[in-house]
Amino acid sequence: MSRNKIIAGNWKMNVKPSETAALVKGVAEATAAYSNVEIVCCTPAIDVPAAVAAAAGTPVGIGSENCHWEDHGAFTGEISTGMLLDAGAKYVIVGHSERRQYFGETDETVNKRARAAIAAGLTTIVCIGETLEERDAGKLNEVIERQVNVGLKDISAADCARLVIAYEPVWAIGTGRTATPDQAQEVHALIRATLAKLVGVETAETVRIQYGGSMKPGNAAELLAKKDIDGGLIGGAALKAADFAGIIAAASAAS
Ligand code: 13P
Repeated sequence: MSRNKIIAGNWKMNVKPSETAALVKGVAEATAAYSNVEIVCCTPAIDVPAAVAAAAGTPVGIGSENCHWEDHGAFTGEISTGMLLDAGAKYVIVGHSERRQYFGETDETVNKRARAAIAAGLTTIVCIGETLEERDAGKLNEVIERQVNVGLKDISAADCARLVIAYEPVWAIGTGRTATPDQAQEVHALIRATLAKLVGVETAETVRIQYGGSMKPGNAAELLAKKDIDGGLIGGAALKAADFAGIIAAASAAS
C-alpha cells in the first residue's frame, strides 16, 4: 500500500499575521519541485486568511492548530470548523500535546473536535503520544491504545479518508531529542494495528501516520524510510522555509 507522504508545519504561537505571507511564499517557492508530497502549513487561527491568500495558486495547503466541536455559540475564544472553512483552511490539528498539557484537552474532547472537523470536511491531524514518565513506567502501549481508542471513537472507515494521525512523543517535542527510527516505527505499527481494530485492516492501511518531535532536514530521511512513517508534523523547523523544504525534499526522495 503506498501512502502519499504528508509534511505539515505546526507554527504554534510563533508567527504574526504580517509575517505570514513571506513564510508561506518562501515554503511554496522552496518546495515547488516536490509535487509528490502533500505540503501543509498549520498556522495560528489569526494567520489563516493571510496564509490562504499567500498560498493561492500553489500546492501548499493551509490549516489551523485547533477547532471547537460546536458550529457556533457562546464559546469565548474558540474557533469553529465553519469559520476555518470560510477563511479557506482545509486542514486542522487537534489534540496536540501542548493543548493536552496546558489547556485541559482530554481524549474525550480530542474525539469531539476530531469528529466535528472530519464531518465538516477538514483533513484532520489527530495528535497522540506518550510522556517520558509514561514511557519509563512501561505504559507506552497502554497510553497509545487509549489515545487511539478514545480519541478516534466513532470515526468510521469512510471518515478515515480525512484522518491523519501524528505520533509525537512528548519528550521529543522541542527538545532536540528525536525518537530513533526504530522506536518511532514500533509505535507507528502499534497505532496502525490499534486503528485496524476500529476500522478494519484495509482502511487502517490507507491512513497516514506522521512522526513529530524534533524532526529536521538532518534526521528526516531515516525516519521517513520506515514502513509506517508517512510524513512529519514539524514545529521549530517549519518556521524557516529552507529547513522545512529540506524535510519535504527528504519526503519526496522517500516516496
Ligand atoms: P518540534 O519539531 O519543534 O519538536 O515540534 C514538534 C511538534 O510539536 C509539532 O506539532
